[in-house]
Amino acid sequence: MSKIKMILDCDTGHDDAIALMLASKHPDIDLLGVTVVAGNQTLDKTLPNTLNVCDHLGLDVPVYGGMPLPLVREQYVAGDIHGKSGLDGPIFGPRTKEAEKENAVFYLIKTLMESDGDITLVPVGPLTNIAVAMRMEPRIIPKIKEIVLMGGAWGLGNKTPAAEFNIVADPEAAYVVFSSGVKLTMMGLDLTNQALATMDIIERMEAIGNKGGKLFGDIMRFTFKSQNILGLSAGPVHDVTAVMYLVHPEYFEVQDMFVEVDISRGPSYGRTVCDVLNVTGKAPNCTVGMGIKLEPFWDEVERIIRMHI
Ligand code: RIB
Ligand code: CA
Repeated sequence: MSKIKMILDCDTGHDDAIALMLASKHPDIDLLGVTVVAGNQTLDKTLPNTLNVCDHLGLDVPVYGGMPLPLVREQYVAGDIHGKSGLDGPIFGPRTKEAEKENAVFYLIKTLMESDGDITLVPVGPLTNIAVAMRMEPRIIPKIKEIVLMGGAWGLGNKTPAAEFNIVADPEAAYVVFSSGVKLTMMGLDLTNQALATMDIIERMEAIGNKGGKLFGDIMRFTFKSQNILGLSAGPVHDVTAVMYLVHPEYFEVQDMFVEVDISRGPSYGRTVCDVLNVTGKAPNCTVGMGIKLEPFWDEVERIIRMHI
């Protein structure tokens, strides 16, 4: 079977880093590049965080800095969860890896336009880079094989009562992506909050005894404590579910439905309004993750972490 060509768009971020560990080593994935956006923290933090993870693990993948600000709203970061650096917890040595000179948006446009339409985009942060690329060059939309994103929720939000962080950090960008007509899969909070890195999971990965296991532990021990502010018993590896869906869709229960992003400036600003019961009768524009088989999920995470020697 040929490898799945993908580009990871991230705002590293604790769970972004674990998603990068999975995407970079999974034998069924050809990780073409990593594009970085402001989100969990400002871009001057999320970009070096991404480079540090790549450097630390010896990942030879090009990294591109993208949009530093959302399209319309004021900047919104998640320091309460990810800390001042955006990746508090692990300590990295001196970094040699530098970002590519090309802006992420231009990289996305060039790569997609030159492709055979066989590239999957996996955005796991605010959708600013993807939206700007779509607006700058609408011809990329039919060239995108699929977008599998971490974001949104059909239930409660985690940044506002109504909205999940990646979406509400740039609702207008999300609106562009969700209304683009691209083949879209959404791993929202109702699914990702099930993938909790409990202390058993953390100790299981650390017991591997390699660089990857140690980094998993250093990263997820930090969010282990910070997640109780959201009523969770541990830190979810939200972003990992989007990458895992690419290689093991059989681990997931999904439902096609109509989803639209609320960009009205009220209390539901940035909500992904999911027509779970199909009350609108509108044709589905999104496949939404509803359930996950956690045992094979964590087995596969462990298998790939073991490859980060
Ligand atoms: O709401 C969870 C999302 O926000 C994850 O992508 C996490 O990394 C943060 O960006
Ligand atoms: Ca993220």
